[in-house]
Amino acid sequence: MIHSPSNRPTARRVLGSLLLVPTLVLAFSLQGCQDESEPVVNVYSHRHYDTDEALFQRFTELSGIRVRVVSASADELIARLEREGQASPADVLITVDAGRLHRARERGLLQPVSSDLLDEAVPMDYRDPEGFWYGLTRRVRIVAYARDRVDPELLERYEDLADEEWTGRVVARSSENIYNISHMASLVAAVGVEEAEAWAEGVVANFARAPQGNDTDQIRDVAAGIGDVALVNSYYVGRLLNSEDAESRQLAQRVGILFPNQDDRGAHVNVSGIGVTAHAPNRAHALQLIEFLVSEEAQRAFAEANFEYPVRPGVAWAPTLQAWGEFRSDPLPLAQLGELNNEAVRIFDRAGWR
Ligand SMILES: [Fe+2]
Repeated sequence: MIHSPSNRPTARRVLGSLLLVPTLVLAFSLQGCQDESEPVVNVYSHRHYDTDEALFQRFTELSGIRVRVVSASADELIARLEREGQASPADVLITVDAGRLHRARERGLLQPVSSDLLDEAVPMDYRDPEGFWYGLTRRVRIVAYARDRVDPELLERYEDLADEEWTGRVVARSSENIYNISHMASLVAAVGVEEAEAWAEGVVANFARAPQGNDTDQIRDVAAGIGDVALVNSYYVGRLLNSEDAESRQLAQRVGILFPNQDDRGAHVNVSGIGVTAHAPNRAHALQLIEFLVSEEAQRAFAEANFEYPVRPGVAWAPTLQAWGEFRSDPLPLAQLGELNNEAVRIFDRAGWR
């Protein structure tokens, strides 16, 4: 999904809308007037943060390679890569969710790369086994709960959300959302289709309202008392807690977070990631950029900017994440999320999770 900046400072919101203009300009300049003498790398990115821009500038300082960015939604970028085919100027695709990266690979839009540096920086679980994509940041699907109405002891596992205890208390977003689809895929891998479907039916029966909104909306609805519990990506809570908007900070204070399944398989983890495009004109530069983005320096900045976890082991976490503490994560290789994607969608349909 597009990272909605609704709780971000106004200046960034304005910057976000301005980004649309250079994107359109770039659409022509990338194809039309590539200066052969200047080393460049062309990035199609679903992420659009000031920090990403700063990191790209740093990469240029270190390497002499200019970074040109096209920002759009993941679906738009994937459609565009398909349309452009061999003529595409894109060298790398940056997007969120292993399910989407898998989709891009399946459609023949990525090519494998490898290097000792990448193998060392990115643990096996957070990259494609054949090098078609590499995770850049990790995010955890957590339970956000109303501190004043929920005893977190009663909610230790994702599976618990289907219990009668939570009737009329669960708020959720649409099952069309890739975060929900990937989480369902992880559940299928853990407990099988039948149990996963029974779980979805149980959660649907517990809805406080029909699925709607994005992850931030789920947190806001828990704070507002529309529901008591929600499944959301960890960084959305981190963002609200650190928002420059006092009202957002206050509502985030009313919400607690918990990492589910700590006594068994662990919490569901996903990544934002990067892959070299199938027809990259600047393949060597693309590899250099990926190696930079998993370096210690870049990992700290990249993850902190959005309150995500670095993929590279040993890199310091943002203070908010440190306060939440260590957690056990589901060791399921992320490539399997993409493979179980279609199964997950069918389960949601049968269970009536719209
Ligand atoms: Fe997101």
